Amino acid sequence: MAVTTTDALVVFTPSGRRGRFPVGTPLLQAARSLGVDIDSVCGGRGMCGRCQVVLAEGEFAKHGVTSRSTNLSPLGPVEREFARGHPLAPGRRLSCSTQVLGDVVVDVPQDSQVHRQVVRKSAEAHDIELDPVVRLHYVEVQLPDMHDPSGDLRRLEDALEFEWRLTELACDVRVLQQLQPALRRGGWKVTVAVHGGSQIIAVWPGFRQRVYGIAVDVGSTTIAAHLCDLSSGEVIAAAGAMNPQIRFGEDLMSRVSYVMMHHGGDKEMTDAVRAAINDLVTDVARQAGIVREEILEATFVGNPIMHHLLLGISPVELGGAPFALSTDASLTLWATEIDLAIHRNARIYVLPCIAGHVGADAAGVVLAERPDLSEEVTLLVDVGTNAEIVLGDHRRLLACSSPTGPAFEGAQISCGQRAAPGAIERVRIDRETLEPRVKVIGCDLWSDDPHFAAATAAIGVTGICGSGIIEVIAELYLAGVIRHDGVIDGSLAERSARIRADGRTFAYDLHGGADGRAPLSITQNDVRAIQLAKAALYAGVRLLMERMHVDRVDRIRLAGAFGSHIDVKYAMVLGMIPDCALGSVSSAGNAAGTGARIALLDQRSRRVIEQLVRRVEKIETAIEPRFQEFFVEAMAIPHLTAPFPRLREAVPLPEAGTAMAGSGRRARSAARRKA
Ligand code: FES
Repeated sequence: MAVTTTDALVVFTPSGRRGRFPVGTPLLQAARSLGVDIDSVCGGRGMCGRCQVVLAEGEFAKHGVTSRSTNLSPLGPVEREFARGHPLAPGRRLSCSTQVLGDVVVDVPQDSQVHRQVVRKSAEAHDIELDPVVRLHYVEVQLPDMHDPSGDLRRLEDALEFEWRLTELACDVRVLQQLQPALRRGGWKVTVAVHGGSQIIAVWPGFRQRVYGIAVDVGSTTIAAHLCDLSSGEVIAAAGAMNPQIRFGEDLMSRVSYVMMHHGGDKEMTDAVRAAINDLVTDVARQAGIVREEILEATFVGNPIMHHLLLGISPVELGGAPFALSTDASLTLWATEIDLAIHRNARIYVLPCIAGHVGADAAGVVLAERPDLSEEVTLLVDVGTNAEIVLGDHRRLLACSSPTGPAFEGAQISCGQRAAPGAIERVRIDRETLEPRVKVIGCDLWSDDPHFAAATAAIGVTGICGSGIIEVIAELYLAGVIRHDGVIDGSLAERSARIRADGRTFAYDLHGGADGRAPLSITQNDVRAIQLAKAALYAGVRLLMERMHVDRVDRIRLAGAFGSHIDVKYAMVLGMIPDCALGSVSSAGNAAGTGARIALLDQRSRRVIEQLVRRVEKIETAIEPRFQEFFVEAMAIPHLTAPFPRLREAVPLPEAGTAMAGSGRRARSAARRKA
């Protein structure tokens, strides 16, 4: 651009982009020509307020600019009109309605940038880059003219090209059915939703500036939904519900069996899960004060069986070797194809699956955690009835699933229960007296507090949930009640009445037992169930470590509800996870759901996860002979041979002393059964 006396230098921060423009150029136009990232829905008409900027006043030696407020046009009628409805914060200007009069430095705040960062709460998590796949564009369309007999769509496309440089847009009959009424009701002014910069998916009369999306994690036990404002990336409502498929089977394999044994069982389960998701949609929309039709995009994650049932695909092939997925690719569909009650032209995106047992939920965890960006060897574990395990760093990513069964969720444990008020979730055992203290969900007091009985009178002490089971078995091991090989040491019955004979083995009475009621006890079978589950998990991890040629991991992230509630110290004492500095083991929260949210808010992340999934090396534990060996060694607490040096620095472990002889054969046959 030639420099004239009527040119002014404009520097945009934080991008640092700069250029000279004729006096009178609107700031938004200057920004656009420099490729500066400034949002807009209304196309510079002073309606949306998305294009706000702040003048940086003062001497900027670095830029060679003295930036003064007089170098911008004063507040004009458009800004004053806008500010009447939406007061502008001090110093803020609408860049579309502010002209350059002299040299200026102009800051584009985060909330005015299209590709802003959505900050995630966890310090260990990467922020989400906002780049939603659905964008809104307001346009004014030429009226039809007898002398220019073009269709309404042609003139809408012309307006979108002229104002927004959008070309070659697809538009199907669903939109055409809305188009003519919308144009006429809006007086030829409409807001258009464009998907992926290539397809018109909705047209509304007049100006509209908000559009919403929903991210759904379909778990086998619970379904979680997050409603997001696609323009800000904020979660504006969230809801969760039990997966109603539970009535067809608690765990995944029993649901597959139901399909095998009941004609039409897959349709029943598909209908049930879709109905539950639609209830959640209604719930989050109500919480946010919007209608469901304002939701234009949805993303889904789920394990392979949930994934297939959601899509109306029979999961029968996933019930046995070779565990063939119908497809491992990501899917983009119309919401109506899965009966999702949101805008009728909304699209849904289902993340890709990794393998027959490692689903789109694990892909979500990978997207949320991005182990591929780290030099550290990171272990990601999502514990459910199947543990999905990913290990890797910037060089390699490996994944497998391990058949942990439902013991960690309280099933298969004599007094186990779901995490609910009244469930024991914390346990401490005195090393001398072997007396326990417990805490239950719904009460902040420990059981040795004199007010505990009164505080829990209403909810009761009803059972032990997953985190409680991990703690009680680990504490019993640390107190010497459970030996290295997992046997409850009956000789201690002399020291404590809590240890008592239970058939040919022994049990430990953890709580209650007064008034003739049976106590909540830990039996030898309970310990065995946890040993089998934790050995399966550890063996899966060990298999991946061997394939990756590493003998230690630098970081462990535990995903899912279970990972949020367990005390990682006890998980390591039990040997569920490999040795690692305790400070480097943390909960990743609902990482699968976060992955769905990232895919919702950042369209580029979809290509990222599609490529990452292709890079993942899939290991099938069922056919790996080494899995059996690792499983047997992992039956001991914490492990038969692994020394756990970093754990020992934090927690003094009892000396092993007890050989695994005798239990090795049992463990081997158990390993074969589980695998
Ligand atoms: S672009 Fe909409 S108010 Fe400026």
